[in-house]
This record gives sequence, structure tokens and C-alpha cells, in this order.
Amino acid sequence: MAHHVCHWWIGYFLASPIRRLVHNPRTILAPYIRPGMTVLDLGPGMATFTLDLARFAGPTGRVIAADVQVHMLAQVEKRAAKAGLLHRIETRLVGNNGSWAGDLAGKIDFALAFYMVHEVPDARAFFTLVRSTIAPGGKLLVVEPKFHVSARAYADTIDTARQIGFEIVDSPRIPRSRSVLLAPR
Ligand SMILES: C[S@@+](CC[C@H](N)C(=O)[O-])C[C@H]1O[C@@H](n2cnc3c(N)ncnc32)[C@H](O)[C@@H]1O
Repeated sequence: MAHHVCHWWIGYFLASPIRRLVHNPRTILAPYIRPGMTVLDLGPGMATFTLDLARFAGPTGRVIAADVQVHMLAQVEKRAAKAGLLHRIETRLVGNNGSWAGDLAGKIDFALAFYMVHEVPDARAFFTLVRSTIAPGGKLLVVEPKFHVSARAYADTIDTARQIGFEIVDSPRIPRSRSVLLAPR
């Protein structure tokens, strides 16, 4: 599978009202987020899910939005400020090592990886790092696009996650997607 990050201009479409007709963040996220939670939004793009994550997490919760593209993070901050949610959202630039997440070990109640794992060059290193951040009882929702990611490639990805210590706890139905809810074993 080729590894590339999506162009920043695709971020505008992914975060648009048209996309919400297919992937409504509130419907998708409602089962998972409770007030006060600490949430990790991996590859937020232009805040497709970030703002609703922050709304569900409430005034005592926080969202860490971590992306490899500065332009995406700038848009997350702009949109968060416009929505009056910037105080609940922290952006982080993901680098080549895991240092950006060093202080998050065991602190994340819910992590979202929506349409981004296929862009990650080393899935094993990615899942190992994310697993280290998950708090007791925490979950990771992995969602991949059917049009980009074959059933075989997806199975390999989830197999990698299982090998490094996640187990599947649910397989939620999300339109046009392959999705699993994972928890540390
Ligand atoms: C296809 S977009 C999906 C954006 C958003 N999650 C959505 O569903 O609309 C993929 C995003 O993941 C980011 N990304 C790619 N590799 C990443 C990595 N290793 N860590 C964090 N973000 C990454 C890209 O920069 C891009 O913003």
C-alpha cells in the first residue's frame, strides 16, 4: 500500500457539510464520549470530528488533535476558535518519533483514528504508541475508507493492532467504511 498524507485541500471537503450527510460526527461519536474525558483525535484533518469531540467532552474534558500537517492543525485552531472551543482543544504536530505523545501515557479515555491509519507508514509503531496512551478502560476507534482500503489490507491493519495488544470489542457500522472499536487486552 502506498503511504502518503492526504493533500490539505482535501481537508476542506472532508470537513464540509456534504461529508456530514454521510458521516455525522454527533451520531458516530455519541456512544463513546462522556463529559470530562481526555480524547485523542489522530489525524484530525481540518477538524472533521474535533469540534464535536470537544462538545461531548464538555468543559471539564479536553481534546488533543495530533496531525503531521501544520496546515491541518492551523485550520483546527481556527475552527475551534470560531466555535468558542479552543480552550478545550490542544493541537500537536506529530513528528518522526513518538515524543509528541510522551506526556500522554495512560491518559487517553478515547482515541479516534478516522480515515488516517492507511496514511501511516509504520502501523506497528503507530499502534504501539497509541496503545501506550490509552487509560484503563479506554478505547480506540479505527475507521478506514472502503474505497481506499481493501478488506485484505484492513484485516492486516487490525491484525497488527491485535499483535501489539489491542482486542476488538465492537464493530460499529459506519457508512462506506470498515470500522472496529479496540481496547487494550
Ligand atoms: C484523509 S485525512 C482524514 C481527516 C479526518 N480524520 C477525517 O476523517 O475527515 C487523514 C489525516 O491524517 C493525517 N495524518 C497522516 N499520517 C498521520 C500520522 N502518522 N499521524 C497523525 N496524523 C496523520 C493527515 O495529515 C490528514 O490530516
